[in-house]
Amino acid sequence: MSVAVILGTRPEIIKMAPIVFELQKRSIPFRLIHTGQHYDDNLSNIFFEELGLPKPNCFLGVGSGSQAEQTAKAMISIERELIDHGPQVVLVQGDTNTVLAGALAGSKAGFAVGHVEAGLRSFDLRMPEEYNRRLADHVCAYLFAPTEHNAENLRKEAVLGKIFVTGNTVIDACNRYVKIAESRSKILDSIKFPEFCLVTAHRAENVDDSKVLKSFMEIFERSPVPVVYPVHPRTRKLLAQSHMLGIIERSSNIQLIDPVGYFDFLTLMRKCRYILTDSGGIQEEATAPSINKKVFVLRLSTERTEAVESGHAEVVGTEPDKVLRSINKYVSEGMIAPLVSSPYGQGDAAVKTIDHLISEMEISGKDQHGWQ
Ligand code: UD1
Ligand code: UDP
Repeated sequence: MSVAVILGTRPEIIKMAPIVFELQKRSIPFRLIHTGQHYDDNLSNIFFEELGLPKPNCFLGVGSGSQAEQTAKAMISIERELIDHGPQVVLVQGDTNTVLAGALAGSKAGFAVGHVEAGLRSFDLRMPEEYNRRLADHVCAYLFAPTEHNAENLRKEAVLGKIFVTGNTVIDACNRYVKIAESRSKILDSIKFPEFCLVTAHRAENVDDSKVLKSFMEIFERSPVPVVYPVHPRTRKLLAQSHMLGIIERSSNIQLIDPVGYFDFLTLMRKCRYILTDSGGIQEEATAPSINKKVFVLRLSTERTEAVESGHAEVVGTEPDKVLRSINKYVSEGMIAPLVSSPYGQGDAAVKTIDHLISEMEISGKDQHGWQ
């Protein structure tokens, strides 16, 4: 078996890392293809270095752009790269434009593409990610669903690919790095609050809307526990454009910092009192026993419903009074995080994914479902 592993953004690097290590462990040849959707050091390089990943075999330099521009550029370069090297299997992870480009270009060029983290659905068509997930799931040959619920979503849509339930590789990553993070991270030395909550926000449907962005800043300003906020570059740019950056920087309740590496972020998640976020991956990580945090999801919907069912996540919307009512209630009740195991698995998602891939290669050859 030879594998092309495609990634392009921060969460894909983190969640693909366990898959890459599993391929290395089993001496399965692979090529690592980085689309370059994320290119800043603190969104990309730092994760290769910290996680101990090999350098990508190729960097496609796609960069930023409109939805179509970014997806189309990535498709063209991915198609060329796959045809030049002819892997037996292509793997994509998650719901970014890189994923849609990899799934579509790979499948149409005749490769069997596996979608890691398949079957998530927010049913919110304002999200570019909802299109990416749905479309990727319908062209991929192998669908690695984190949970039975995700697999059920895929069955309901009658996808053509083969479905496997594996858990989420983010739990593998958390388990692998949480101890190392503790010994290596010095982030707490620079945090000015003895007790803090951790905040991130970057979803397009939130931060690109200046009214929602303003609401978020009001929520952070009024948070009963002071806020540590690693700002995504998309959001930093929008805060500057709407003249809110200076105000936030001067707030005594908010400490703005640049995006941090995985060791620092794991440390911040472990030490914070609760999390406010619109991130997808952070909702999952909060359920890992080593993190176990309450997450207030600053969105109207979530595709991570399992985290809501386990009691870790609460979808609170974006309206300040409503969000703060939920947070204040949690704080007044003593900020007790749920002590249940993660619905996203035990940390063996990468092992299961590669086991399934190997048996598929052995059993069916490459021409199953017309994919070759
Ligand atoms: C993308 C994904 C989102 C994922 C997020 C992870 C899509 C549609 N969105 O969102 O699903 O949750 O990555 O963080 O694929 N920028 C930089 N430096 C970089 C990268 C981006 O400054 O290295 C800035 C640029 O101004 C760019 C903006 O951030 O226009 C948005 O970047 P983009 O990759 O389009 O989307 P994200 O918001 O990062
Ligand atoms: N993360 C990080 N540093 C940060 C913010 C997030 O390492 O400053 C990690 C976080 O632990 C998680 C991933 O990045 O694993 C989530 O990425 P993001 O929220 O950008 O994307 P999403 O999961 O929403 O697609």
